[in-house]
Amino acid sequence: MTQTANTPLLELRDITMRFGFIEALKSVDFTIFPQEVVAVVGDNGAGKSTLMKVIAGLYQPTKGDIRWRGGPVTISNVHEADSMGIGTVFQGQEFCENLNVSDNLFLGRELTRRAGIRDDEAMRSRSRRILDTFASSIGIGQSIASLSTGQRQTVAIARTLLNNPSLVLLDEPTASLSVMQTAEVLTYIKRLRTEGRSVMMICHDLPDVFAVADRIVVLRQGRINGVHNTEDTSYEEIIAQIAGVDTDGEGPGAHPTKRKRTDHQGRMLIDRSMRVKAAISRTGEGG
Ligand SMILES: Nc1ncnc2c1ncn2[C@@H]1O[C@H](COP(=O)(O)OP(=O)(O)OP(=O)(O)O)[C@@H](O)[C@H]1O
Ligand SMILES: [Mg+2]
Repeated sequence: MTQTANTPLLELRDITMRFGFIEALKSVDFTIFPQEVVAVVGDNGAGKSTLMKVIAGLYQPTKGDIRWRGGPVTISNVHEADSMGIGTVFQGQEFCENLNVSDNLFLGRELTRRAGIRDDEAMRSRSRRILDTFASSIGIGQSIASLSTGQRQTVAIARTLLNNPSLVLLDEPTASLSVMQTAEVLTYIKRLRTEGRSVMMICHDLPDVFAVADRIVVLRQGRINGVHNTEDTSYEEIIAQIAGVDTDGEGPGAHPTKRKRTDHQGRMLIDRSMRVKAAISRTGEGG
């Protein structure tokens, strides 16, 4: 395997995923480079979560190849993904409500001493260290039930970091969060990149996407309908590709042009975008 600076961290080629008669992914190519945040957008049922689950080892694709750091791989299950360095926060991830934060972080992968006895001390100090890297004020002994949605998302992201992953997969990390909580999570995503990790993030909220993503991949009805450098595209172009509308005679795959973000929906989005950006700069590091 030859690995250069331009070698993608992860490369999917011609991935098809069938569930009976439903083709959730149709010949999908997807690439993510080291230290890159890629947002995957698309309408409900477009195949976003399915794509993520293929990468996370939850689904075996019907067809296609996966390469990791330049070499072919099969990701047979979530544990295998985990040990390769792929950490995942699934959509609507659940916690054990009756356990505290530390216990939830280590659920299913408890640290033990030599005799096989749970090492609560080690888990607590490890939890403390990981949560300290987040600016939030979550106590490791706090019950999960007492946390806000934003704090739960923080714990879910913290949980993926236990294995020091190179790639973190996040399915709708900002769904149903307030503007401040969203800004906090987006700041964490930027920090993951600063730490040298890559992030694949599924997101419905375009302002959040434009605030953190280096590239944007549009899925529509199981197919890739566009791949853009964030700085070279616009809300209008992304919205049009999500909806499958051909704007300015430009079909999917056409060269993206930068357009002014001035239509009605664009103005609304920019409004939220500005608030999110302002909140990010208030919650800490910007880039
Ligand atoms: N385990 C499954 N069995 C059967 N069909 C499935 C399964 N998982 C997904 N599908 C189907 O595949 C298609 C894509 O689903 P997927 O969950 O990937 O969409 P999505 O883009 O994540 O949508 P959303 O934005 O609603 O989360 C849908 O038609 C869905 O019903
Ligand atoms: Mg989904």
